[in-house]
Amino acid sequence: MPISQPSPIPEFLYGTAWKEGGTPALTALALRAGFRAIDTANQRRHYFEAGVGQGLAAAYREGVITRADLFLQTKFTYQPGQDHRLPYDPAASLSVQVTQSLASSLEHLGTDYVDSYVLHGPSSGYGWAEADAEVWESMMKERDAGRTRLLGVSNVSLRHLEQMVAAHTEAPAFVQNRCYARLGWDREVRSFCTERKIIYQGFSLLTANVEVLNHPLVTGLAARANAKLAQIVFSFARAVGMLPITGTSDAEHMKQDLASRELTLPPEAVSAIESLAC
Ligand SMILES: NC(=O)c1ccc[n+]([C@@H]2O[C@H](COP(=O)([O-])OP(=O)(O)OC[C@H]3O[C@@H](n4cnc5c(N)ncnc54)[C@H](OP(=O)(O)O)[C@@H]3O)[C@@H](O)[C@H]2O)c1
Repeated sequence: MPISQPSPIPEFLYGTAWKEGGTPALTALALRAGFRAIDTANQRRHYFEAGVGQGLAAAYREGVITRADLFLQTKFTYQPGQDHRLPYDPAASLSVQVTQSLASSLEHLGTDYVDSYVLHGPSSGYGWAEADAEVWESMMKERDAGRTRLLGVSNVSLRHLEQMVAAHTEAPAFVQNRCYARLGWDREVRSFCTERKIIYQGFSLLTANVEVLNHPLVTGLAARANAKLAQIVFSFARAVGMLPITGTSDAEHMKQDLASRELTLPPEAVSAIESLAC
């Protein structure tokens, strides 16, 4: 079924990992706070995707948002990344597992399409493998059938991406990676993405970069702008073209994180943060 009114690419993603029984209430709280994009995964070990669906349903009932205003992203996770609560038949082929996992996600989320479907991580740390190729081809078929608008990959190196684009007719729309300042904020992968107009989603921007939050450059910028340290990091992330992800469980932090969209850092501050050698 064609999707007539695609949701635009969001400015901020609200992440739903590790929230367990708090997932429905926190998802609804995030939507009430103003988030319009949700990241989840059909990986019960770290995410409670059905709980995300309950939070969405509550927000729809309250009139906070409609499905059409929302950007929903979920993921396919290989069996080694799962616990015993699998969203597919482990004896089925990978391509069937993708179909089963996405069907289960759509049921959890109470929708007939997601905006983005992401391969949670390649099957090998060394490179793009045959298994990944089978999964990606299946994801493309799901997209062509209208069950997702866009496709992405997560936890990838430059090598994965180079091999992936060489092996397939289509590059991902999104790359979602943990973003370490000490690795130039994932410089190599980000520049690959920029060249190909792939949107880079950065997670653990705060938790992976505690040393940046305490760096005098960042504390000084925060003091001058009367902003929180987290807001400087999210504003920086956006200034270098990232789509940031936050998974805060705190209502005040949700507001602060969203308010970082109003904060514009001077270009010299952006370059200085980008080249912080921590
Ligand atoms: N693709 C993957 O493999 C993968 C892996 C990990 C995560 N993710 C996604 O990314 C999402 C976010 O995960 P994450 O690793 O970035 O971190 P996270 O688990 O969301 O942790 C963010 C931390 O930053 C704090 N924080 C947020 N805003 C703050 C603020 N304004 N001031 C002070 N502290 C603030 C939070 O504390 P409070 O709760 O107290 O605010 C929390 O301790 C996940 O939920 C998931 O959706 C994806």
